[in-house]
Amino acid sequence: MADDSVKSEASAHQENNNGDNKSSQKVVSSNAEEAAENQTLSKRQRKKLQKQQKWEDDRDLRKQRRKERKQQRQLQRHNHQEEDGGEAQKCRKRPRREVTPSSLKLVVDCSFDNLMLVKDVGKLHKQIQRCYSENRRALHPVQFYLTSLGGQLKQSMDEKDKGWVNWKDITIKSEHYGEVVAKEELVYLTSDSPNVLEELDHKKAYVIGGLVDHNHHKGITFERAKELGIAHAQLPLSSFVRMNSRKVLAVNHVFEIILAYMEQGSWQKAFFTILPQRKGAVAVVEDGTTIQEKEEEDSDSDPDTPDQTEKQAQT
Ligand SMILES: C[S@@+](CC[C@H](N)C(=O)[O-])C[C@H]1O[C@@H](n2cnc3c(N)ncnc32)[C@H](O)[C@@H]1O
Repeated sequence: MADDSVKSEASAHQENNNGDNKSSQKVVSSNAEEAAENQTLSKRQRKKLQKQQKWEDDRDLRKQRRKERKQQRQLQRHNHQEEDGGEAQKCRKRPRREVTPSSLKLVVDCSFDNLMLVKDVGKLHKQIQRCYSENRRALHPVQFYLTSLGGQLKQSMDEKDKGWVNWKDITIKSEHYGEVVAKEELVYLTSDSPNVLEELDHKKAYVIGGLVDHNHHKGITFERAKELGIAHAQLPLSSFVRMNSRKVLAVNHVFEIILAYMEQGSWQKAFFTILPQRKGAVAVVEDGTTIQEKEEEDSDSDPDTPDQTEKQAQT
C-alpha cells in the first residue's frame, strides 16, 4: 500500500513539477499519508512538497492581494480621468475656429525634379508634407496644387509616405501647371522678380518653384516665368524685414507665409510668425530703421533648409 502511495505521490509530484497543482492536493490529502510520505521521500522531494503546500495555503492571500492591487489601479485611473476630464472640459469651452476655405490657388511646381540630388528631393518631399499639413489646419486653406509630379519626388513619396494617395483637399497632377491652370491666373513667386507683391488676389494661382537647389540654379524660376509669359512677383520681404541672409526662402516657408498673411492680414506678422530665427529677421519701420531683433542663429546656413524647430520639413 505504502509503496503504491509513494508511487502515486511520486508521479503526482512529477506532475507537480510540470505545474499541475491539483495533483499535489491529492498527494497531501492526509497527515498520516504525509508522515509516511516524509519518511519515504528524499529531503529534496520533501522540501518541494512543503513549498507546494505553502503555495496552496497562500492562494487566498494572493487572491486578496491581487484584488487590492486592482482596486488601487482603478482608483488611480479614476483620479487621472478626473484631472484629464477637467482639462478636456476646459478645451471644449474654447471657441471653435471657423474655417473658411479660400479660392486662392497655391501651386507647387515640381518640374525641376531632374535638377536635384536625391537628398534634396528628400528635403523637398518633407517641405511638401509640411505645406500639406499646414494647409489642412489653416483657418483659410488655399486650393493646393502639386503639378508635374513624377520622377524622383514621386518615387520618394511612394516609398516613404504611401498615404499621399489619400491626401484630401489637394489636386495632384503629373501635368505642367500651364496645362492645369489658365495662363492669366498664374503669378510665379520668385525672389528674382522686380515686382513686389503687395496684396494677394484670391482669383490668382500663385506658383512656388518646387526646388531645393542651395542657390545653384539662381534665377531659374524667374527665367521660366518670363519664357512662359506669365506674371511674376517677389514677396515684400524688403519692405517689412531686414534679414542677415539671402531672401530666398524654402518652399514651405513661402507657402506658410501666404497662409499666415491670409489669417493675420499683415505681411510683417506673417514673416515673423513663419521665418526661421536663423534668418535673423529684423522688422523694418517706415524710416528704414529696425525695431525688433530676432535671435540670430546660424546666419550662414542654407536657405533651403527649414529651422531646427520645424522638424517635419527638415532634411
Ligand atoms: C528654394 S527657392 C528656389 C530658388 C531657385 N533658385 C529659384 O530660382 O527659384 C523655392 C521657391 O520658393 C519661392 N521663393 C523663395 N523665396 C522667395 C521670395 N523671396 N519671394 C517670392 N518667392 C520666393 C520661389 O518660388 C522659389 O522657386
